[in-house]
Amino acid sequence: MPASAPPRPLDLKRQLLLRVGLFTLALLVVSTAAALLEARHRVRGDIARTGPLLAQLISDTVGRSENAYSRTLSEDDLESAPLQPIAKLVHVCVRLTDIYSHPVAQRCFAGEPRLPAALRQSMRAVIGADAVYQGAVGRFPGIAIGQLTVTPDYDRELLDLGGKLARLLALSAMLLLLSFFIYRPVRNALAPSADILATLSRMEAGDLRARMPAFALIELNRIGAAFNHLLDRLDHTIRDQQHLAHRLLSVREEERAHLARELHDELGQYLASLNAEAAFARELAQEGVPALLPCAESIGRTSGHMMEVLQQILHRLRPSGLTEFGLLPSLQQLIADWNTRGRGRTVFTLAAGGLPADLPDDVGVSVYRIVQESLTNAVRHGRATRVEVTLDGGATGLRLSIGDDGQGGAAPRRVSAADGTGATPAESANGTGGAGYGLLGMEERVLALGGSLRVRSSAGGGTMVRVELPLAQPAPVGEAQP
Ligand SMILES: Nc1ncnc2c1ncn2[C@@H]1O[C@H](COP(=O)(O)OP(=O)(O)OP(=O)(O)O)[C@@H](O)[C@H]1O
Ligand SMILES: [Mg+2]
Repeated sequence: MPASAPPRPLDLKRQLLLRVGLFTLALLVVSTAAALLEARHRVRGDIARTGPLLAQLISDTVGRSENAYSRTLSEDDLESAPLQPIAKLVHVCVRLTDIYSHPVAQRCFAGEPRLPAALRQSMRAVIGADAVYQGAVGRFPGIAIGQLTVTPDYDRELLDLGGKLARLLALSAMLLLLSFFIYRPVRNALAPSADILATLSRMEAGDLRARMPAFALIELNRIGAAFNHLLDRLDHTIRDQQHLAHRLLSVREEERAHLARELHDELGQYLASLNAEAAFARELAQEGVPALLPCAESIGRTSGHMMEVLQQILHRLRPSGLTEFGLLPSLQQLIADWNTRGRGRTVFTLAAGGLPADLPDDVGVSVYRIVQESLTNAVRHGRATRVEVTLDGGATGLRLSIGDDGQGGAAPRRVSAADGTGATPAESANGTGGAGYGLLGMEERVLALGGSLRVRSSAGGGTMVRVELPLAQPAPVGEAQP
């Protein structure tokens, strides 16, 4: 089944205002169009109905006058009592002309025109230029003495329409205002989402102490409590894991020390006595059996060589002086050994400072082992000519870096105990992140101590290993710190 597209992010305020705004606009457009159409039909109907009526009223007035035979039209004919209220009611303008089409009188009953000509013309276009009544005015039926022209009072119609539009605009403004009033409570109801997002961001940044606050909504409160419970458990699990890894490393170091002791006390003693026996045999051979001399000397050389190898193994298993003299002298010794072994082909340097006097043993051992492994890697894989080790101590932690100018090419790694994960792209690729277990062991040590490790390596550009170790250890859950 194809994966459904992720929902588009919704800005509530924007959406609300946009929808209400669009609705208001549509309402405004439709209502305006309806008002224009209504005006057109009403005014056209008014002209068609009232035109003949007005002509008839004026004719009646003229016909009733005393001198009806010689009577001509005058301005007073528009003042007749029955004509006034009708003309005012329907908003029309009338014009009287005599039989020669000379203007006699002209007036709009609701008042004189006031609005700009352009506006009047647009209203005329809306109503239609043909909305005009023209009819004859006569003394007697069949005898015309002039003509009446009735047109809509465009100004009055425009003012009426303006009034309607103003009411519509006021209604629209009310609708927009209403959307603001609706938005406030909705925003308040959704306010906890900001708190939830803030907590999730803190978690994402590795802060496992982040917890959901209390919410006013009971349902959200329950979700928050369940989430906090999960976080508690995650926090405990990660701390347990760190503690376990820490214990494993301590056991490993103890095992190495035990092995070193056994090798030294057992194998070392045998080799020493073998060496002494070989010396004795050499003396006897010199005195009585010269044929045995080469054999005795060979046994002596071999046992001597085995003792040297044993010393090296013992030194790797248990760095001499680390517990007795501390980290710095041991590192200096390690660097000096590598410089001797490198015979100038590779130069090793150490810059260290600010180390606390009471550095915990497990931190010291881990730093030593990480440097040991990194130097080996730099020579073995990087074929470096220069390897720089720096170690800075501070109140809260140690910063260690081992950089070489070798050929690089190690898979990049980044682990941090704060993230609660030790997975790296390299690990997921083949399980160990490379051919061996050196870098993996470094990661284990760093994670067990609650620190972080980063390996950067570019082909031809050397390799840089950076480690940060906190000095205040997180207290293991449910058990005392060893
Ligand atoms: N300084 C370095 N320069 C170049 N490549 C490196 C460097 N450090 C590590 N690598 C690469 O990363 C791989 C993994 O290193 P890692 O120390 O984990 O294993 P290893 O050295 O091959 O074996 P082990 O350490 O178990 O004896 C190495 O095989 C090597 O390819
Ligand atoms: Mg290695």
